[in-house]
Amino acid sequence: VVIGSRDPTRAADAAEQIAATIPEAGVSGLANAEAVPGAGIVALCVPFESQVPTLQSVAPSFQPGQVLLDATVPLATAAGGRPTRVLGVWQGSAAEQAQEMLPPGVSVVSALHTVAASHLRDLEHVFDEDVLVTGDDDDAKRQVAELISRIPGLRPVDAGRLEMARITEQLTALMIGINIRYRVAAGVRIAGLKGQPWALGTRPA
Ligand SMILES: NC(=O)c1ccc[n+]([C@@H]2O[C@H](COP(=O)([O-])OP(=O)(O)OC[C@H]3O[C@@H](n4cnc5c(N)ncnc54)[C@H](OP(=O)(O)O)[C@@H]3O)[C@@H](O)[C@H]2O)c1
Repeated sequence: VVIGSRDPTRAADAAEQIAATIPEAGVSGLANAEAVPGAGIVALCVPFESQVPTLQSVAPSFQPGQVLLDATVPLATAAGGRPTRVLGVWQGSAAEQAQEMLPPGVSVVSALHTVAASHLRDLEHVFDEDVLVTGDDDDAKRQVAELISRIPGLRPVDAGRLEMARITEQLTALMIGINIRYRVAAGVRIAGLKGQPWALGTRPA
């Protein structure tokens, strides 16, 4: 795993923290543009207002065949608004905006919007929730689903084409409202789907 940052020192510090917690982890830190080459899956997790500048700075580093896993949510906080509201994005979603900015042959997969960072950071946390995954490239989506499946208790669910990210991204604003009201960090679960729907090949069209 290569951690990217605008500041390579910050990236190296983050990598050191991970290595201190998980000694067997192969992890390093680099400046964003240097972290992209060689990665099968590049995860983009920056505030919505930073998505365009970040992609502008790293887009030339991408090669065809790479996958961008985008977790950006266009929360209204980007324009001084509430975290329980989202902004309209001309392309339909932050993920579609990202796809437009990347070179041909790079596939955007959108996921993880409803998974709390505080839980991902807590190695003792026991997950029991679904992750809605959208994208236009089936193989790219499968790669991301396999990555998510490696986290025990997270079940990737194929939520359709990338255009559906305009719905999945908005769920975060809904979840933030629920979390505030119930003082939790809740996740989502799709009822009626048995087992691992990806592995069972029950992927909807
Ligand atoms: N937090 C959650 O639980 C959660 C859950 C689902 C989805 N998301 C979404 O994931 C994205 C990241 O969320 P987060 O909570 O991780 O955000 P964050 O902690 O505020 O920012 C993540 C990283 O983005 C970089 N960044 C911050 N401001 C920037 C700027 N102005 N320009 C360029 N880079 C900047 C910073 O890295 P460097 O300073 O090292 O460059 C920072 O460490 C957001 O779109 C959020 O809506 C968050």
